[in-house]
Amino acid sequence: MATYLVTGAAGFIGSWLTQALVERGETVRALDNFSTGKRENLAPWRQKIELLEVDLRDANATARACEGVEIIFHEAALPSVPLSVKDPRTSHTANIDGTFNLLEGARHAGVRRVVYAASSSAYGNRNPLPQVESMLPGPLSPYAVQKFAGELYLRSYWEVYGLETVALRYFNIFGPRQAPDSPYSGVMAKFAKMMLAGEQPTIHGDGEQSRDFTYIENVVQANLKAAAAPAEKVAGRMFNCACGKPYTLNQTYKLMAELTGYKNPPLYGPSREGDIKHSYADISAARETLGYAPKVDFLEGLRRTVDWYREQHQQESRKPVGTRV
Ligand code: UD1
Repeated sequence: MATYLVTGAAGFIGSWLTQALVERGETVRALDNFSTGKRENLAPWRQKIELLEVDLRDANATARACEGVEIIFHEAALPSVPLSVKDPRTSHTANIDGTFNLLEGARHAGVRRVVYAASSSAYGNRNPLPQVESMLPGPLSPYAVQKFAGELYLRSYWEVYGLETVALRYFNIFGPRQAPDSPYSGVMAKFAKMMLAGEQPTIHGDGEQSRDFTYIENVVQANLKAAAAPAEKVAGRMFNCACGKPYTLNQTYKLMAELTGYKNPPLYGPSREGDIKHSYADISAARETLGYAPKVDFLEGLRRTVDWYREQHQQESRKPVGTRV
């Protein structure tokens, strides 16, 4: 049986991938440094996985984690545009050094394939829309540069060392388990939690920026297909991973307010530095080459997401005061 290594396994996307692999009966090594990942995200599968507390900035420990592995899903990252603007060095070392150490570990351990969490931010404000893989990249923020650099490294490791690599450019992934608590949290998690708590969210800018928000289950599907696709079709390549339909933030806010029962309008604040205006994917390459087809559309994903945060909110409200987080 293949041995899979999932980096960032205790995070949002990593924990979903770990779950999917465990449910398929695969042998999984889960790696996280728990800087943003949470042990509770892995708790239901804890007895079925090998769990390593390793920081990818530690090259030796990372190399050891790669031993005996056939396929790596590389989800570990510090994933935030504004965090990278505020503290580019920390996100640079996590995202670039971490990816480099992992590729080195993978190469020396004879890993067959690395599937990488790339980012739609690599397109920047490139037009025309939808954004297609053949477009010139235009990364704006340090985060976008870091994630794009990872893609280039992957491609080089395929060309030079024959390590099979596939990069999936994620377009604003959302769903249950996405952390809502930090100032750097993704907008969907943040808004869901705030609205359910009766707090007024802030929209940065005029709210007319749009995103191709993609529900997590579609991302799991894309990863599993990227891991299984024949090397001659996918190695060294990059694919958009999205739903293929954009929504503005104003539209998203309205839909989420309806689902949560939140009545107030948003506050509007200044635009965020490094923020891009429109993000919208052409997903035909993933459809044709990987056989990817998003199964959960935005609205269904939104419903499932709000249901999950509502459940979390209710559990939290039942805890005695003083033990709530
Ligand atoms: C970017 C990448 C995405 C990547 C993510 C990692 C793009 C298009 N997308 O997402 O692929 O996975 O970084 O973090 O570059 N916003 C508010 N109020 C808030 C929070 C956010 O208005 O309280 C707005 C932001 O200004 C932005 C949108 O919501 O316009 C989405 O923000 P966010 O969820 O942080 O993701 P991106 O930065 O778009």
